[in-house]
Amino acid sequence: MIAQAVKPCEKVFDTGSDHAFIPIYLVLKGICSNAVASDVKEGPIKVAARNIKRFKLENRITVEKGDGIENATGYDCIIIAGMGGQLICDIISRSSDIAKNAGQLILQPMNAPEKLRKYLWDNGYKIYSENLCSEKHKVYNVICAKYTGINETYEKWQLHASKKLTEKKHILLSGYIAPKLRRLYDMKNGIGDSSEELNDLIKRLEEVKDGNI
Ligand SMILES: C[S@@+](CC[C@H](N)C(=O)[O-])C[C@H]1O[C@@H](n2cnc3c(N)ncnc32)[C@H](O)[C@@H]1O
Repeated sequence: MIAQAVKPCEKVFDTGSDHAFIPIYLVLKGICSNAVASDVKEGPIKVAARNIKRFKLENRITVEKGDGIENATGYDCIIIAGMGGQLICDIISRSSDIAKNAGQLILQPMNAPEKLRKYLWDNGYKIYSENLCSEKHKVYNVICAKYTGINETYEKWQLHASKKLTEKKHILLSGYIAPKLRRLYDMKNGIGDSSEELNDLIKRLEEVKDGNI
């Protein structure tokens, strides 16, 4: 799903690349010409280098050790996948000049997608596409964004349900929303939070889950 989200381009920078499966797939499928597989840790760097060698792609994919996207100046596409939503926000905000110049930001948060959407919408990024897929009963989400300089307006429920996924009534949307709703009900019942804000959020997300928004 992450690879499918990448529009064909010249150079891709994949940070937190770990095994380098995404750059290898992108180059093999001709979706990009060259790529960088970058990671902050030594272990993943070694695994990435081994996999790239296995596919004889050393001349197309380089391996770099680095924190976030600090070395990603001038890439058509930056991928930050398989990390928490807050960490993705931190990585983007620490190198915001670089993120703003990327043609495509392909982001795949493992949790807290609402924090990531909030950061993007409040800081002039447009979310131009989102998608979901499921594996072993867990639903995964990919967010495609680009800097425009224009902040987006939104309602709180849209941070959780996503404007794009709601618009296209994605078939996996109710499965995506269900764990969030369970946590909100736990909050309401467990700590007795019955604020109007929480009740409204639950009501809206129930409507999304039932396909009524
Ligand atoms: C779960 S793996 C994700 C692998 C791959 N991107 C994927 O989606 O399948 C997360 C990787 O992010 C790396 N990572 C964590 N923080 C990072 C940072 N600040 N900069 C670069 N890589 C980071 C970890 O070392 C780890 O290899």
